[in-house]
Amino acid sequence: MLLGADSPLTDDGLPPSPACVIYPGSFDPVTNGHFDIVRRAARLFQTLIVAVVGNPGKSPMFGIEDRVAMLREACAQLPNVKVDSFTGLLADYVRFRQAALIIKGLRIVSDFEHEFSMALLNRKLEGGVETMFVPASLEYAYVSSSSVKEVFLLGGDIADFVPPAVLRAMQSLRRTAPAGAAFQK
Ligand code: PNS
Repeated sequence: MLLGADSPLTDDGLPPSPACVIYPGSFDPVTNGHFDIVRRAARLFQTLIVAVVGNPGKSPMFGIEDRVAMLREACAQLPNVKVDSFTGLLADYVRFRQAALIIKGLRIVSDFEHEFSMALLNRKLEGGVETMFVPASLEYAYVSSSSVKEVFLLGGDIADFVPPAVLRAMQSLRRTAPAGAAFQK
């Protein structure tokens, strides 16, 4: 499937970029690393849907609506980025949205093994849909939602790792669970 192939050319004589791609994730919470992927991928496609996946079986720090709200605030300056959520199979959501591609960020080599098998699985499940990997920027390669949560829960400073909306939300959690409460000698 070559998206945009039937569409008129843009003003500069080039075909339009593919219509709609999906960047899925738990985003519990969104980090500056995720946002960097969103910002860079959004330059390549007409519409980027950031899809928060709310599958049962995980115990998230934030509910799905809070995660969506934090992402919407973080992405407010990117007009071609939409934030949505779903539960169920990513392959079904890709079909529902008639999306051209799945976008995934890759931080470190060990991400690749899992993401590669997910890409093959999703391609099998949904009519050949491809996954495009966007490498993390060097300054965010070590930032993950789980490490941010761990630093936070142990009383560390996460200000450099998350967008302002997430920092505010986590600081308000801290008022109910004081910083360093988990630290024991
Ligand atoms: O941010 P994460 O937790 O690494 O994202 C993983 C996610 C949510 C993209 C992945 O678990 C997913 O696609 N979940 C949807 C359910 C699904 O399609 N599962 C089949 C592949 S295991």
